[in-house]
Amino acid sequence: MQQHIRRVAIIGTGLVGSSAAYSILNQGICDELIMVDINQERAIGESLDLSHCIDFTNSRTKVRAGTYQDLGDADIAVITAGPPPKPGQTRLDTLEIGAKIMNDMIPQIMASGFNGIFLIASNPVDIITYHVWKLSGLPRNRVIGTGTSLDSSRLKTYLSEILDVDPRSIYGYTMGEHGDSQFAAWSHISVGGKPLLQILEEQKRQLGDIDLDQIVEDVKKVGFEILKRKGTTYYGIGNAIAFITKSIFNDDHRIIALSCMLNGEYGETELCTGVPAILTREGIKEVVELRLTEEEQRKFRNSTAVLRNYMSSIGY
Ligand code: LAC
Repeated sequence: MQQHIRRVAIIGTGLVGSSAAYSILNQGICDELIMVDINQERAIGESLDLSHCIDFTNSRTKVRAGTYQDLGDADIAVITAGPPPKPGQTRLDTLEIGAKIMNDMIPQIMASGFNGIFLIASNPVDIITYHVWKLSGLPRNRVIGTGTSLDSSRLKTYLSEILDVDPRSIYGYTMGEHGDSQFAAWSHISVGGKPLLQILEEQKRQLGDIDLDQIVEDVKKVGFEILKRKGTTYYGIGNAIAFITKSIFNDDHRIIALSCMLNGEYGETELCTGVPAILTREGIKEVVELRLTEEEQRKFRNSTAVLRNYMSSIGY
Protein backbone atom coordinates (compact mmCIF):
# COMPACT_ATOMS: atom_id res chain seq x y z
CA MET A 1 0.00 0.00 0.00
CA GLN A 2 1.42 3.35 -1.02
CA GLN A 3 2.43 5.46 1.99
CA HIS A 4 0.94 8.98 2.11
CA ILE A 5 3.55 11.53 1.08
CA ARG A 6 3.66 14.24 3.75
CA ARG A 7 4.01 17.53 1.88
CA VAL A 8 4.73 20.93 3.46
CA ALA A 9 4.79 24.13 1.46
CA ILE A 10 6.77 27.07 2.83
CA ILE A 11 5.40 30.28 1.38
CA GLY A 12 7.92 33.02 1.92
CA THR A 13 11.46 31.61 1.80
CA GLY A 14 13.09 34.48 3.66
CA LEU A 15 14.87 33.98 6.96
CA VAL A 16 11.78 32.73 8.85
CA GLY A 17 10.62 30.39 6.07
CA SER A 18 14.06 28.97 5.37
CA SER A 19 14.77 28.49 9.10
CA ALA A 20 11.47 26.63 9.45
CA ALA A 21 12.33 24.53 6.40
CA TYR A 22 15.81 23.79 7.78
CA SER A 23 14.35 22.67 11.11
CA ILE A 24 11.63 20.56 9.46
CA LEU A 25 14.19 18.93 7.21
CA ASN A 26 16.69 18.21 9.98
CA GLN A 27 13.98 16.55 12.05
CA GLY A 28 12.67 14.53 9.11
CA ILE A 29 9.18 15.84 9.76
CA CYS A 30 7.87 15.54 6.19
CA ASP A 31 8.63 13.79 2.90
CA GLU A 32 8.53 16.80 0.61
CA LEU A 33 9.20 20.49 1.12
CA ILE A 34 7.95 22.90 -1.52
CA MET A 35 9.62 26.29 -1.31
CA VAL A 36 7.48 29.09 -2.71
CA ASP A 37 8.43 32.76 -2.92
CA ILE A 38 7.50 35.75 -5.04
CA ASN A 39 11.25 35.86 -5.66
CA GLN A 40 11.51 32.57 -7.58
CA GLU A 41 15.28 32.76 -7.74
CA ARG A 42 15.42 32.90 -3.95
CA ALA A 43 13.08 29.91 -3.67
CA ILE A 44 15.28 27.93 -6.06
CA GLY A 45 18.43 28.92 -4.18
CA GLU A 46 16.98 27.94 -0.82
CA SER A 47 15.66 24.60 -2.10
CA LEU A 48 19.01 23.72 -3.69
CA ASP A 49 20.92 24.66 -0.54
CA LEU A 50 18.50 22.72 1.69
CA SER A 51 18.68 19.65 -0.57
CA HIS A 52 22.43 19.53 0.14
CA CYS A 53 21.67 18.86 3.83
CA ILE A 54 20.01 15.50 3.21
CA ASP A 55 23.13 13.38 3.12
CA PHE A 56 23.96 14.62 6.64
CA THR A 57 20.55 13.86 8.10
CA ASN A 58 18.49 10.76 8.80
CA SER A 59 15.74 11.89 6.47
CA ARG A 60 15.22 11.72 2.72
CA THR A 61 13.13 14.87 2.48
CA LYS A 62 12.75 15.97 -1.12
CA VAL A 63 13.07 19.74 -1.47
CA ARG A 64 11.95 21.69 -4.50
CA ALA A 65 11.02 25.20 -5.51
CA GLY A 66 7.42 25.58 -6.57
CA THR A 67 4.61 28.01 -7.20
CA TYR A 68 1.17 28.52 -5.67
CA GLN A 69 -0.20 26.14 -8.34
CA ASP A 70 1.83 23.30 -6.82
CA LEU A 71 -0.02 23.35 -3.52
CA GLY A 72 -3.01 21.23 -4.50
CA ASP A 73 -1.76 18.17 -2.63
CA ALA A 74 0.17 19.87 0.16
CA ASP A 75 -0.88 18.82 3.66
CA ILE A 76 0.33 22.01 5.36
CA ALA A 77 0.96 25.45 3.88
CA VAL A 78 3.21 27.52 6.13
CA ILE A 79 2.78 31.24 5.51
CA THR A 80 5.74 33.38 6.54
CA ALA A 81 5.58 36.13 3.90
CA GLY A 82 5.64 39.69 5.19
CA PRO A 83 8.05 42.31 6.52
CA PRO A 84 9.42 42.58 10.07
CA PRO A 85 8.42 45.77 11.90
CA LYS A 86 10.62 48.79 11.14
CA PRO A 87 12.41 50.48 14.08
CA GLY A 88 9.75 52.07 16.30
CA GLN A 89 6.93 50.00 14.76
CA THR A 90 4.93 47.27 16.47
CA ARG A 91 3.92 44.04 14.74
CA LEU A 92 0.41 45.54 14.34
CA ASP A 93 1.88 48.36 12.24
CA THR A 94 2.73 45.84 9.50
CA LEU A 95 -0.95 44.83 9.14
CA GLU A 96 -1.75 46.84 6.02
CA ILE A 97 1.07 45.39 3.96
CA GLY A 98 0.53 41.92 5.41
CA ALA A 99 -3.15 41.91 4.53
CA LYS A 100 -2.38 43.05 0.98
CA ILE A 101 0.07 40.17 0.54
CA MET A 102 -2.61 37.70 1.69
CA ASN A 103 -5.24 39.27 -0.60
CA ASP A 104 -3.01 38.37 -3.53
CA MET A 105 -1.63 35.07 -2.25
CA ILE A 106 -4.51 33.15 -0.69
CA PRO A 107 -6.90 33.11 -3.69
CA GLN A 108 -4.04 31.77 -5.85
CA ILE A 109 -3.28 29.04 -3.32
CA MET A 110 -6.95 28.06 -3.06
CA ALA A 111 -7.18 27.97 -6.88
CA SER A 112 -4.57 25.17 -6.76
CA GLY A 113 -7.12 23.00 -4.96
CA PHE A 114 -5.28 23.30 -1.63
CA ASN A 115 -7.38 21.58 1.02
CA GLY A 116 -4.95 21.15 3.88
CA ILE A 117 -4.00 23.18 6.95
CA PHE A 118 -2.74 26.77 6.87
CA LEU A 119 -0.10 27.51 9.49
CA ILE A 120 0.44 31.26 9.62
CA ALA A 121 3.52 32.93 11.11
CA SER A 122 3.18 36.23 9.23
CA ASN A 123 2.61 39.17 11.55
CA PRO A 124 0.49 40.54 13.02
CA VAL A 125 -0.21 36.84 13.24
CA ASP A 126 -3.59 36.93 15.00
CA ILE A 127 -5.21 39.27 12.48
CA ILE A 128 -3.45 37.70 9.49
CA THR A 129 -4.71 34.28 10.64
CA TYR A 130 -8.28 35.61 10.79
CA HIS A 131 -7.85 37.27 7.38
CA VAL A 132 -6.52 34.05 5.82
CA TRP A 133 -9.43 32.14 7.36
CA LYS A 134 -11.89 34.56 5.75
CA LEU A 135 -10.09 34.54 2.38
CA SER A 136 -9.63 30.77 2.25
CA GLY A 137 -13.11 29.61 3.22
CA LEU A 138 -11.49 26.66 5.01
CA PRO A 139 -13.06 25.45 8.28
CA ARG A 140 -11.71 27.31 11.30
CA ASN A 141 -9.90 24.29 12.70
CA ARG A 142 -7.62 24.23 9.65
CA VAL A 143 -6.42 27.86 9.73
CA ILE A 144 -3.97 28.16 12.60
CA GLY A 145 -1.56 30.90 13.66
CA THR A 146 1.68 30.38 15.59
CA GLY A 147 0.05 32.73 18.11
CA THR A 148 1.72 32.88 21.52
CA SER A 149 3.52 29.55 21.11
CA LEU A 150 6.87 31.34 20.81
CA ASP A 151 6.02 33.80 23.59
CA SER A 152 5.04 30.92 25.89
CA SER A 153 8.36 29.27 25.08
CA ARG A 154 10.18 32.49 25.89
CA LEU A 155 8.26 32.77 29.19
CA LYS A 156 9.25 29.22 30.11
CA THR A 157 12.86 29.97 29.24
CA TYR A 158 12.88 32.93 31.65
CA LEU A 159 11.19 30.85 34.36
CA SER A 160 13.57 27.94 33.81
CA GLU A 161 16.53 30.26 34.45
CA ILE A 162 14.94 31.53 37.70
CA LEU A 163 13.90 28.08 38.95
CA ASP A 164 16.79 26.08 37.47
CA VAL A 165 14.28 23.67 35.93
CA ASP A 166 14.11 22.38 32.34
CA PRO A 167 11.66 24.62 30.43
CA ARG A 168 10.00 21.46 29.12
CA SER A 169 8.89 20.71 32.67
CA ILE A 170 7.13 24.06 32.94
CA TYR A 171 3.54 24.09 31.69
CA GLY A 172 1.63 27.23 30.86
CA TYR A 173 1.11 29.99 28.38
CA THR A 174 1.01 33.60 27.55
CA MET A 175 -2.33 34.33 25.89
CA GLY A 176 -3.97 36.91 23.67
CA GLU A 177 -2.14 38.95 21.04
CA HIS A 178 1.27 37.86 19.86
CA GLY A 179 2.37 41.34 20.79
CA ASP A 180 2.35 44.01 23.47
CA SER A 181 -1.11 43.22 24.89
CA GLN A 182 -0.43 39.56 25.63
CA PHE A 183 -0.50 38.36 29.24
CA ALA A 184 0.68 35.37 31.25
CA ALA A 185 -2.04 33.16 32.75
CA TRP A 186 -0.02 32.86 35.99
CA SER A 187 -2.82 31.08 37.81
CA HIS A 188 -2.42 28.17 35.38
CA ILE A 189 1.34 27.87 35.15
CA SER A 190 2.84 24.86 36.86
CA VAL A 191 6.26 23.31 37.30
CA GLY A 192 6.01 19.56 37.02
CA GLY A 193 2.38 19.89 38.06
CA LYS A 194 3.06 22.14 41.10
CA PRO A 195 1.49 25.62 40.77
CA LEU A 196 4.18 28.20 40.05
CA LEU A 197 2.64 30.75 42.42
CA GLN A 198 2.80 28.21 45.26
CA ILE A 199 6.48 27.54 44.49
CA LEU A 200 7.33 31.26 44.48
CA GLU A 201 5.55 31.63 47.83
CA GLU A 202 7.28 28.63 49.40
CA GLN A 203 10.71 29.55 48.05
CA LYS A 204 10.51 33.30 48.63
CA ARG A 205 13.57 33.14 50.91
CA GLN A 206 15.73 31.40 48.30
CA LEU A 207 14.31 33.10 45.21
CA GLY A 208 13.50 36.54 46.63
CA ASP A 209 10.55 38.54 45.29
CA ILE A 210 10.13 37.56 41.63
CA ASP A 211 8.66 40.43 39.56
CA LEU A 212 6.17 38.55 37.38
CA ASP A 213 5.11 41.71 35.57
CA GLN A 214 8.73 42.31 34.58
CA ILE A 215 9.01 38.77 33.21
CA VAL A 216 6.01 39.37 30.96
CA GLU A 217 7.49 42.70 29.84
CA ASP A 218 10.74 40.89 29.00
CA VAL A 219 8.81 38.30 26.98
CA LYS A 220 7.02 41.07 25.08
CA LYS A 221 10.23 42.95 24.36
CA VAL A 222 12.76 40.22 23.64
CA GLY A 223 11.66 39.84 20.03
CA PHE A 224 12.52 43.50 19.50
CA GLU A 225 15.80 43.14 21.40
CA ILE A 226 16.76 40.49 18.84
CA LEU A 227 15.38 42.51 15.93
CA LYS A 228 17.43 45.54 17.04
CA ARG A 229 20.61 43.45 16.95
CA LYS A 230 20.16 41.19 13.91
CA GLY A 231 17.35 42.74 11.90
CA THR A 232 14.70 40.10 12.53
CA THR A 233 14.03 36.87 14.44
CA TYR A 234 13.96 33.48 12.76
CA TYR A 235 15.40 30.55 14.76
CA GLY A 236 12.78 30.64 17.56
CA ILE A 237 9.82 31.05 15.23
CA GLY A 238 11.37 28.60 12.77
CA ASN A 239 11.47 25.90 15.44
CA ALA A 240 7.99 26.80 16.65
CA ILE A 241 6.72 26.22 13.10
CA ALA A 242 8.57 22.89 12.90
CA PHE A 243 7.24 21.83 16.33
CA ILE A 244 3.65 22.62 15.33
CA THR A 245 4.08 20.90 11.95
CA LYS A 246 5.44 17.77 13.65
CA SER A 247 2.55 17.76 16.13
CA ILE A 248 0.09 17.85 13.24
CA PHE A 249 1.67 15.00 11.29
CA ASN A 250 2.07 12.92 14.46
CA ASP A 251 -1.56 13.54 15.37
CA ASP A 252 -0.14 14.30 18.81
CA HIS A 253 -3.27 15.83 20.39
CA ARG A 254 -0.76 18.09 22.11
CA ILE A 255 -1.89 21.33 23.75
CA ILE A 256 -0.06 24.36 22.34
CA ALA A 257 -0.75 28.10 22.63
CA LEU A 258 -1.90 28.85 19.06
CA SER A 259 -3.80 31.64 17.37
CA CYS A 260 -7.21 30.06 16.91
CA MET A 261 -10.47 31.34 15.49
CA LEU A 262 -12.75 31.72 18.54
CA ASN A 263 -16.41 30.81 18.23
CA GLY A 264 -17.65 31.59 21.74
CA GLU A 265 -14.65 30.32 23.67
CA TYR A 266 -13.52 32.83 26.33
CA GLY A 267 -16.68 34.77 25.48
CA GLU A 268 -15.25 35.84 22.11
CA THR A 269 -16.29 35.23 18.51
CA GLU A 270 -15.01 36.28 15.09
CA LEU A 271 -11.36 36.80 15.96
CA CYS A 272 -8.17 34.80 16.25
CA THR A 273 -5.88 35.07 19.24
CA GLY A 274 -3.47 33.03 21.36
CA VAL A 275 -5.19 30.35 23.41
CA PRO A 276 -4.24 26.82 24.46
CA ALA A 277 -5.64 24.36 21.93
CA ILE A 278 -5.51 20.64 21.23
CA LEU A 279 -3.70 20.09 17.93
CA THR A 280 -4.31 16.98 15.81
CA ARG A 281 -3.75 15.75 12.25
CA GLU A 282 -6.99 17.55 11.31
CA GLY A 283 -5.88 20.84 12.88
CA ILE A 284 -7.44 22.33 16.03
CA LYS A 285 -9.57 19.73 17.79
CA GLU A 286 -10.61 21.97 20.66
CA VAL A 287 -9.78 25.30 22.28
CA VAL A 288 -8.94 24.67 25.95
CA GLU A 289 -10.93 27.11 28.11
CA LEU A 290 -8.97 27.91 31.27
CA ARG A 291 -10.85 29.38 34.22
CA LEU A 292 -9.00 32.71 34.23
CA THR A 293 -8.87 34.98 37.26
CA GLU A 294 -10.69 38.32 37.10
CA GLU A 295 -7.38 40.03 36.37
CA GLU A 296 -6.53 37.56 33.62
CA GLN A 297 -9.99 37.94 32.08
CA ARG A 298 -9.54 41.73 32.08
CA LYS A 299 -6.20 41.36 30.31
CA PHE A 300 -7.70 38.93 27.81
CA ARG A 301 -10.48 41.42 27.04
CA ASN A 302 -7.95 44.20 26.65
CA SER A 303 -5.94 42.12 24.21
CA THR A 304 -8.91 41.17 22.06
CA ALA A 305 -10.03 44.82 22.06
CA VAL A 306 -6.60 45.85 20.72
CA LEU A 307 -6.91 43.24 17.98
CA ARG A 308 -10.46 44.23 17.07
CA ASN A 309 -9.41 47.86 16.81
CA TYR A 310 -6.79 46.97 14.20
CA MET A 311 -9.09 44.45 12.49
CA SER A 312 -11.51 47.28 11.77
CA SER A 313 -8.75 48.99 9.77
CA ILE A 314 -8.93 46.18 7.20
CA GLY A 315 -12.70 46.03 7.14
CA TYR A 316 -13.59 43.57 9.91
C1 LAC B 1 8.92 37.13 17.14
C2 LAC B 1 8.25 37.26 15.80
C3 LAC B 1 7.97 35.90 15.21
O1 LAC B 1 8.27 37.39 18.17
O2 LAC B 1 7.01 38.02 15.89
O3 LAC B 1 10.07 36.67 17.15
